[in-house]
Amino acid sequence: MQKRVCIIGAGPSGITTLKNLIDKGLSVVCYDQNKEVGGNWIYSEDESHSSVFETTHIISSKTLSQYEDYTFDDFDKTVADYPSHDELRRYFQAYARYFDLYPHIEFGTSVLHCDKKGDNEWHVTIKQHNQERVEVFTDLVACNGHHSVPRMPEYPGNFSGSFMHSHHYKKASPFAGKRVLVIGGGNSACDVAVETSRVSEKTSISWRRGYRIIPKFFFGLPSDIVGARSAWLPVKIRSWLNDRLLNLLIGKNKLYGLQEVKTKFGETHPTINDELLYKIRHGKVHPKVDIECLDDNTVHFKDGTKEDFDVIIACTGFVLKHSFFKDSFVDYSDGPVPLYLKMFHPKHHDLFFVGMFQPLGCIWPGSELQSKILANYLTGEWKMPQNIEKLCEREVTHPHYRQINTPRHTITVDYHDFRKALLKQLPKNWISKEPKTISKSA
Ligand SMILES: Cc1cc2nc3c(=O)[nH]c(=O)nc-3n(C[C@H](O)[C@H](O)[C@H](O)COP(=O)(O)OP(=O)(O)OC[C@H]3O[C@@H](n4cnc5c(N)ncnc54)[C@H](O)[C@@H]3O)c2cc1C
Ligand SMILES: NC(=O)c1ccc[n+]([C@@H]2O[C@H](COP(=O)([O-])OP(=O)(O)OC[C@H]3O[C@@H](n4cnc5c(N)ncnc54)[C@H](OP(=O)(O)O)[C@@H]3O)[C@@H](O)[C@H]2O)c1
Repeated sequence: MQKRVCIIGAGPSGITTLKNLIDKGLSVVCYDQNKEVGGNWIYSEDESHSSVFETTHIISSKTLSQYEDYTFDDFDKTVADYPSHDELRRYFQAYARYFDLYPHIEFGTSVLHCDKKGDNEWHVTIKQHNQERVEVFTDLVACNGHHSVPRMPEYPGNFSGSFMHSHHYKKASPFAGKRVLVIGGGNSACDVAVETSRVSEKTSISWRRGYRIIPKFFFGLPSDIVGARSAWLPVKIRSWLNDRLLNLLIGKNKLYGLQEVKTKFGETHPTINDELLYKIRHGKVHPKVDIECLDDNTVHFKDGTKEDFDVIIACTGFVLKHSFFKDSFVDYSDGPVPLYLKMFHPKHHDLFFVGMFQPLGCIWPGSELQSKILANYLTGEWKMPQNIEKLCEREVTHPHYRQINTPRHTITVDYHDFRKALLKQLPKNWISKEPKTISKSA
């Protein structure tokens, strides 16, 4: 059977996969349940795949958050250092138009099941216009994203107010005049606490450990640009330097009433926020420790304090989920995730994951490189190593960062080291800015 590739998802990872496979003349169909390109970056107040908020701006700077085949300068030179969700949506849609990807994407199409038949056939059940049908492919690429299925915490007791997840938080206005408790120390929690504190009667934030809060700028430059200057150093030394720099510039957490940080830089996914510490010192956000139990509208904390709230917003992260696979076939929800270069399956050499990694930085530049390696593999220009099973295991046992053992830390990579590892697999002239048009796959 001639190669026919299925891509699930037309978010930032899916479109670059589509572009790079088309570049190599492959026959590809991309399915997305949405009506447009952009994935997580299509903000909507209605329930949708997206988890971004009305006020979300990216946390990595535009310089380190662009496709090299189509940079922000190619799109719009006036975009700020940290673009908003809407600028990103427009950037991704401009990429798709520039490379003429739209004819290859079937929108409003949900992938329901993917079953491997025999050695080289994928039977993909899709739902389109309320009708189900099965399409047959030789290869399958999952680009379905990993920030849309809420991971909810559980506590003893019951809460009588509203208990929601950050996936359903869209904007601050519904929380005007309310007593809000935000749970978590990641980027969602800190963003949500800052935003609700502008309108709420009171906003508190509950952390189960101490986190370092990294500002968006150092010395007038985006912090990742400053960080990139030491990318040549080993991760351990970079972590040590970052810790020293942050202690010097920000000071200890206890100055802000927050729990002290007991981890080294990189041992938890970084939280980047310019306003949280400011809001705490202005009495707008109140730090709390982990929750002990819930009772009616009272929350009891582990330090013996208690307080009443109207709303709890759990910003407790997302589950790595592939609803179109049987759990017995693929279930990475609690880790580990043994994939070579975070994309090649040890046993199924016609199944690939693009964008399923969590860098300390931006995702889609890595997706761009992964998809170029994939395109070379599918055309036979790149050979999968013989010892792939060992290499998959090695990625699990030798992560770039030794992170704390919580569910969000199973797919972390160092942005720079991961990029170097991917670039090693590509020829020097890997950038390809010219749009190539091929006819739509049958
Ligand atoms: C609030 C917030 C802020 C973030 N900020 C950053 C940031 O600053 N930098 C960064 O790099 N990352 C950030 N992220 C992570 C974000 O998930 C990635 O930036 C990016 O969206 C990953 O692209 P993707 O294409 O892999 O996944 P997604 O953008 O999630 O796209 C997946 C696509 O797959 C489609 N899909 C899924 N399942 C199916 C199915 N069964 N059938 C058909 N279609 C399907 C979806 O509709 C969607 O279009 C943020 C996440 C959140 C929640
Ligand atoms: N551009 C932006 O502005 C922006 C905004 C939001 C999110 N994002 C990105 O989106 C992704 C998801 O971020 P996220 O903040 O939603 O999730 P996240 O990074 O997974 O963080 C979840 C937080 O909740 C805590 N947590 C999890 N379960 C808990 C429990 N049962 N009780 C108490 N605390 C619990 C985690 O603690 P542990 O430390 O113990 O794991 C962590 O502090 C990340 O890649 C992030 O960078 C970016």
